Amino acid sequence: MSNMSPAKHLLVVTMLFLSLSMAVTTSQSSVGRTMSKEDIGLKTEKLTHFHFFLHAIISGPNIDDVNVALPPPTSTTPAADALFGRVDVVDIPMTIGPNISSERIGSFQGVVAGVSPVEELTYFMEVAFIFTEGKYNGSTLVMLGRNQATMKLRELPIVGGTGIFRFARGYALTRTYSPFDTKTGIAIYEYDLYALHY
Ligand SMILES: *[C@@H]1O[C@H](CO)[C@@H](O)[C@H](O)[C@H]1NC(C)=O
Ligand SMILES: *[C@@H]1O[C@H](CO)[C@@H](O)[C@H](O)[C@H]1NC(C)=O
Repeated sequence: MSNMSPAKHLLVVTMLFLSLSMAVTTSQSSVGRTMSKEDIGLKTEKLTHFHFFLHAIISGPNIDDVNVALPPPTSTTPAADALFGRVDVVDIPMTIGPNISSERIGSFQGVVAGVSPVEELTYFMEVAFIFTEGKYNGSTLVMLGRNQATMKLRELPIVGGTGIFRFARGYALTRTYSPFDTKTGIAIYEYDLYALHY
């Protein structure tokens, strides 16, 4: 290009730059494209509060909290008494009141793992709240986080959702309404969810 006039040189460089940037734009738009929230029907973000109870039934005929893995036993602790390394799968009814025969509004499904010694009662939970009532029917919220049951009030993040809860985020507050009863095999937990969604 050394024998080109400066003007010609500039033209060539500009054309090269243009074709390069066009190639970049084209390859970007084939992967993702910017759109507005209205394009998929998202309007105003709102905050919804839910209040309900869970009945974890660990033994008996209507079991809804199943232990699927236990840690290896140690010389001092039999596996069944250990918490760290214990994994449960749950499908627990969500009800309006603390009585299990009160109105059912959904299911709490997921995996709960023990992550502490038994004295600290700490779990890591990855669960979905599946709503089955009214306009929430079929929509889910997903909760992921640490739950230390020795604390009166625990907070876990709500990290997303489906259906009317697309793009949801928020937090859950939970407390033990009635601790695990060895006679009935039932523990009752109270939940307050605060979720931002469209
Ligand atoms: C739960 O409700 C049932 C039916 O309404 C009632 O018979 C029972 O006593 C209630 N249980 C408690 C613990 O309140
Ligand atoms: C919830 O949706 C399911 C599946 O579409 C339907 O069978 C059920 O009757 C609905 N329940 C309520 C309470 O609307």
